[in-house]
Amino acid sequence: MAVLVTGGLGYIGSHTCVELMNAGIDIVVIDNLYNCKKSSYDRIKALTGRDFPFYKVDIRDAKGLQNVFDSEKIDSVIHFAGLKAVGESCEKPLEYFDNNVNGTLVLLDVMRKNGCKKIVFSSSATVYGMNNVSPLTEDMPVGGVTNPYGRTKYMIECIMKDLFASDNSWSICLLRYFNPIGAHKSGTMGEDPNGIPNNLMPYITQVAIGKRAELGVFGNDYDTPDGTGVRDYIHVVDLALGHVKAVEKIRKEDGLFIYNLGTGTGYSVLDVVKAFEKASGVKIPYSIKPRRPGDIATCYSDPSKALKELGWKAERGIEEMCEDSWRWQSKNPDGYPD
Ligand code: NAD
Ligand code: WQD
Repeated sequence: MAVLVTGGLGYIGSHTCVELMNAGIDIVVIDNLYNCKKSSYDRIKALTGRDFPFYKVDIRDAKGLQNVFDSEKIDSVIHFAGLKAVGESCEKPLEYFDNNVNGTLVLLDVMRKNGCKKIVFSSSATVYGMNNVSPLTEDMPVGGVTNPYGRTKYMIECIMKDLFASDNSWSICLLRYFNPIGAHKSGTMGEDPNGIPNNLMPYITQVAIGKRAELGVFGNDYDTPDGTGVRDYIHVVDLALGHVKAVEKIRKEDGLFIYNLGTGTGYSVLDVVKAFEKASGVKIPYSIKPRRPGDIATCYSDPSKALKELGWKAERGIEEMCEDSWRWQSKNPDGYPD
């Protein structure tokens, strides 16, 4: 039996596909190629030396999904497919709710019709909102979200909790990611944003490669040690390995499980700039800009529940995250080939 990986050619999905196959787990991948290149499929195969089925399918397309279930033996799903740009979600809320929330409803319905009731979902630390104090634990209240993207994650969590309440034979794992950065050690897979990067690390690497003149640091007057925002950066390979543990758990146990995937350590924007400069040997010019609307001062996890229940812990530190991000960017200045 295989795990269906939705959005499996994207940044986190592609790294997870590699680690799933390294762990001997069979996969089937779907992606509508909206935010990735098909060449990511070739890179996954080259890295693992394994072939696997890929279908270009949109999760909102029930017939397309049914065809995948008819053609493959699938017992569980890891659901990455979604739109993820916070700013864009404020401009296009309907598109975000349609793609993320409606898409998930269609997926869950097709799963149910096929007797497949095991799913790992890509949630986000954003569901903790503005009002909880770090370190964030899974039992804190969620929902004080500041943007439509975050609300799609919160709404999907609610939908999945209600689904489980209605039918305890589901096994659902909500993984709340903190800030994934880094890339595969080989330098052949990494994050490949379209246009101007929204997130810190891809912006830094694009400054380092000469695509952007300087980094704008969004505020240096937060209540943090150096005044810049503090986040819990996690290496994407550690995150991928968390999915291997999560899917192993839902395959053997029914229930509703919620885990933070983070390191438990916060770094400021300037800490990351310094760590990147050290790892790459490249100076990152920056200037202080106004705060970005919706940003909070500090956000980091308490990852102890995932250690206790999944036996998972992030192993890679900030130096390695920076080295690997830089290796990917410098070897692939224009990202994945078309
Ligand atoms: P990504 O954009 O690289 O990957 C998402 C993939 O899903 C893309 O390949 C895209 O083409 C595909 N996709 C989007 N809509 C689809 C649809 N309707 N049908 C089929 N495929 C579709 O993003 P990522 O960083 O790998 O994120 C993966 C998941 O993790 C997303 O759900 C995201 O919201 C969540 N997440 C990401 C972060 C982060 O910082 N990267 C943090 C928390 C949660
Ligand atoms: C990190 C820090 C910025 C860019 C976002 C989403 C969240 C999750 C992860 C999906 C902050 C600062 C950034 C720049 C900067 N995604 N920064 N200059 O905002 O913590 O989280 O991605 O679920 O939902 O909100 O990540 O990388 O954008 O920012 O100074 O050019 O870097 O202000 O302090 P964020 P980020």
